[in-house]
Amino acid sequence: MLKILQVRSIFRATVSCNHSYHSTIRNMKFIKLSQTDALMPTVGLGTWQAEPDVLQPVIYEALELGYRHIDTAFNYNNEEAIGNAVKKWIDDGKGVRSDLFITTKLPHVGNRASDVEKFLNLQLKRLQTAYVDLYLIHVPFGFNCDHTTLTPKVDADGNYELDMETDHIATWKKLEDCQKSGLIRNLGLSNFNEAQIQAIWESATFKPQVLQVELHAYFQQQELRNYCTEHDIVVTAYAPLGSPGAKSHFVNKYKYSPGVFPDLLTVPEVVTIAKKFGKTPAQILLHFLVQQKIVVIPKSTNKERLQANMDLYDFEMTQDDMNLLIRLDKGEKGRIFNFLFWKGVENHPEYPFKEVKKDICTESN
Ligand SMILES: NC(=O)c1ccc[n+]([C@@H]2O[C@H](COP(=O)([O-])OP(=O)(O)OC[C@H]3O[C@@H](n4cnc5c(N)ncnc54)[C@H](OP(=O)(O)O)[C@@H]3O)[C@@H](O)[C@H]2O)c1
Repeated sequence: MLKILQVRSIFRATVSCNHSYHSTIRNMKFIKLSQTDALMPTVGLGTWQAEPDVLQPVIYEALELGYRHIDTAFNYNNEEAIGNAVKKWIDDGKGVRSDLFITTKLPHVGNRASDVEKFLNLQLKRLQTAYVDLYLIHVPFGFNCDHTTLTPKVDADGNYELDMETDHIATWKKLEDCQKSGLIRNLGLSNFNEAQIQAIWESATFKPQVLQVELHAYFQQQELRNYCTEHDIVVTAYAPLGSPGAKSHFVNKYKYSPGVFPDLLTVPEVVTIAKKFGKTPAQILLHFLVQQKIVVIPKSTNKERLQANMDLYDFEMTQDDMNLLIRLDKGEKGRIFNFLFWKGVENHPEYPFKEVKKDICTESN
């Protein structure tokens, strides 16, 4: 049974007496994870596409605003900047490491049991921390690693070299060892489908506690969420605003353009509800998720948006408002992140999105 907790006292009163800071803390909510009873803040700061030099001061700023949950990954190339900002925040006497909930992820190029310790140790070093609060397997598939650059091997035609030996159970066992030894506090998965989670669940001693997946008004993943509720797995929504910056990133970096791309912030239903509550469309999209006990990790490097994105708990939407947004769901058609920008990935035996794979097969037939 997932419970949202409003916690006022777990943070030490170490920070300034700035009024807005305290009200932010008061409004913070947490969700308890299975097995460890760890408290995960329901709003975290996403950091994908945040360049290190921009991100470093933003992390400090975010901590000052009251963020206590940071989401990063090996692949975001910004763990070092986050480590620097957190260290400065702690050295400045603003708080202690145990005030924070830091999530990072095992990359596709390290998605094998023999590479877990190598990547985890490197990430801990970059983050300048003795442990991470949550470690996720970033994607269920694996690529062969260019060991000089720690990036995927890509052939002359731009195809990613697939590691066809990906073995989730073996990798998970290794992660369990790292959890036992204290390098990782909590464990989870990202971008796994239900069958893949279930296979790990059945063999795991320490069960997956969190699933991080794409989730927003156009792609609500109700079936997968039901499965998670039944298994006491907390769901974290990535791209909760529909990832407005993703399209240009896909086009610029991979020359890959998804056919349709949503602009959730201008959807009339979202705008109408925002006006009704005197909130921004982004706050409505985020509140819609947290009201359903889903953790959100919106990314922003802009101070005003950072502040607004965590200011979600001073209003309550009615069931009618919620229903309006629930009806926006486009099912599989709402998915933005199918990872096809990694050329050839759909041929990996653990490529998770069967519907997408079927579409591709149909088109080429
Ligand atoms: N596990 C995975 O495979 C995976 C995949 C994707 C993302 N993620 C994680 O999830 C996080 C969130 O996803 P995301 O970054 O793709 O998308 P998102 O949080 O839905 O959207 C971020 C974009 O929206 C803009 N934005 C933020 N707040 C806004 C507001 N209040 N009003 C208008 N625009 C706003 C940001 O620009 P500004 O910075 O200029 O505000 C940025 O371009 C990532 O950063 C990452 O940590 C995980």
